[in-house]
Amino acid sequence: MASDIRFLMCAPDHYDVDYVINPWMEGNIHKSSRDRAVEQWQKLYQVLKDHATVDLIPPQKGWPDMVFTANAGLVLGTNVVLSRFLHKERQGEEPYFQEWFEQNGFTVYNLPKDLPFEGAGDALLDRAGRWLWAGYGFRSELDSHPYLAKWLDIEVLSLRLIDERFYHLDTCFCPLANGYLIYYPGAFDSYSNRLIEMRVPPEKRIAIAEADAVNFACNAVNIEEIVVMNKASDDLRAKLNAVGFQVIETPLTEFLKAGGAAKCLTLRVTEPIDEQVHASVYVESRVIQMRGHLLDAGIINRALDLIVDNGGSFQVLNFNLGEQRQSTSTAEVRVSAPSHQVMEEIISHLIDLGAVDLPEDERDAKLEPVTKDGVAPDDFYVTTIYPTEVRIDGVWVKVENQRMDGAIAVKQTPNGITARCKLLRDLEIGEQVVVDVFGIRTIRKPESREKRNSEEFSFMSAGVSSERRVELIVEQVAWELRKIRDTGGKVIVSAGPVVIHTGGGEHLARLIREGYVQALLGGNAIAVHDMEQSIMGTSLGVDMKRGVAVRGGHRHHLKVINTIRRYGSIAQAVEAGVITSGIMYECVKNHVPFVLAGSIRDDGPLPDTQMDLIKAQTEYAQHIRGAEMILMLSSMLHSIGVGNMTPAGVKMVCVDINPAVVTKLSDRGSVESVGVVTDVGLFLSLLTQQLDKLTSPYLGKTN
Ligand code: ARG
Repeated sequence: MASDIRFLMCAPDHYDVDYVINPWMEGNIHKSSRDRAVEQWQKLYQVLKDHATVDLIPPQKGWPDMVFTANAGLVLGTNVVLSRFLHKERQGEEPYFQEWFEQNGFTVYNLPKDLPFEGAGDALLDRAGRWLWAGYGFRSELDSHPYLAKWLDIEVLSLRLIDERFYHLDTCFCPLANGYLIYYPGAFDSYSNRLIEMRVPPEKRIAIAEADAVNFACNAVNIEEIVVMNKASDDLRAKLNAVGFQVIETPLTEFLKAGGAAKCLTLRVTEPIDEQVHASVYVESRVIQMRGHLLDAGIINRALDLIVDNGGSFQVLNFNLGEQRQSTSTAEVRVSAPSHQVMEEIISHLIDLGAVDLPEDERDAKLEPVTKDGVAPDDFYVTTIYPTEVRIDGVWVKVENQRMDGAIAVKQTPNGITARCKLLRDLEIGEQVVVDVFGIRTIRKPESREKRNSEEFSFMSAGVSSERRVELIVEQVAWELRKIRDTGGKVIVSAGPVVIHTGGGEHLARLIREGYVQALLGGNAIAVHDMEQSIMGTSLGVDMKRGVAVRGGHRHHLKVINTIRRYGSIAQAVEAGVITSGIMYECVKNHVPFVLAGSIRDDGPLPDTQMDLIKAQTEYAQHIRGAEMILMLSSMLHSIGVGNMTPAGVKMVCVDINPAVVTKLSDRGSVESVGVVTDVGLFLSLLTQQLDKLTSPYLGKTN
């Protein structure tokens, strides 16, 4: 024995793999050899006894994992926080460990029931005692961390584990003497990796490869310059030697079958207190309330998943299940996050899902002034497509001009307080901007079950369609187009040149002619190719009737641009009789406004193309206002631009041959958008056919 360091171990008399509570145990039930386990454990015991004192706790029959004394509790000085095991398979170990600690003069702290924490398996002291690293994500709950800070009077740094193979912090993280650290970065989320990098300087961090990690190299016992582990690669050993550590390998393969190795088999019970350090913990908690068809509509699952996916943890405090088919449910959920930044991220997502504060916790939105035109305060709340309200002086104010990716500007006017969604560039000194995530709520009308299930319109089942569903969707779109036209509503089309190349031009032209389209949003190219077809019969030099390239055809579109430039505008070319058919022709003839937004790759451009993109965005936005439906036809660029400006509640149909584009656009988390992966020419042709059917005199009979 070379130091006054003490460990607690438990002999493997009753050790076995009896159940599966971690991935390592899978397939290993009763596959470990007791004899070999005893031999390996004895070796480890001897190695440690050469360098420290080892106490033993009597093993208990029926508790095979009790050998893993790291999970007994977390010791600091004479205090110990007893483990509360997540799995019932290990909960029976708790009283034995408690008894041992009490008999050995420790003050034992017990966590509230149902708050799992698995001791030194999930909480590792910095070896200089400066702070405590605490893991969460699989076994221990984030909400246990504030208790550790309070009872042990130490700063707690929470690390989130994301790889189920490394379900305890000590399987992938091992603080060493002199501020060194071995760890496997892949086991942690990015926030935690950042935290580690902030606290441990690069020259002290030894990131290990997966091959070492799965040999439990991080599950090491460090006694001064000695590091004891199951197995180390040459590379890892060299790295540790280079900074003054000596590696002692001692095989523990029988214990790997249960998901543990050297460190798990020991609990260091002498952990000196550094009088300089005191409690502090970043864990923040907040209780939110949700209401609606939480179960049917899957809202509660989404909410809980997003809390965890974003690095937080939760506790459902209350869940009132709506009893009748029509009644809504309510839930109260306590959300915890390891930092305010993570909390903000989580809450802003929950706001999108309709989460609100408890009535007694309601507070005003936090405002900060704009100090430079066109620039928001750092922490500004980023708006979404959902109708939003902000609480100002105790009153909920509706946000006007709702759109995503803006900031909420609040202004005191003679008529009272106004709140508006604004683009960053439009913010002005004198305005206040909503920051952080307090006093903000989105209004989600809980659609009734009936409507959701039976609505003939499958906009209600948002998603990307398969080829089979195309015809069905076409029928529904046709029906909707008719309804909107007949009630004087507004339909916007955003379209790319592919509409022309795929032969959809004539069909879109017809929709415009027949009053189904109230504005066309596109770029330079769709207009150029449409007019090329009208004037020369080709689209990008390809003869549209015969489908073959025309000699010299690649220059056709430049000739067209030149012609229009000579006339001064598309409208003037139409008036002069140069253009006699096509999309642009119909727009001009039927007074359907169009906006052509320029881009870096434009030839020409046409005189009508708006090369000032800020102006183009503004013009797009003006046309979109009040739209009931938007058809997005094969233009990723213009359709995403349009999507960004469109609030929830507008039906969007996105048609593209590229599923990625469709997914991107129809995945707005709103029920009104639908994606169709198909050839846009085909889609438009089916659509006009369907409209013909709807207007046929026989319709009355079938409907
Ligand atoms: N079979 C045990 C469990 O899943 C292994 C515990 C390993 N201990 C540790 N500190 N990592 O709980």
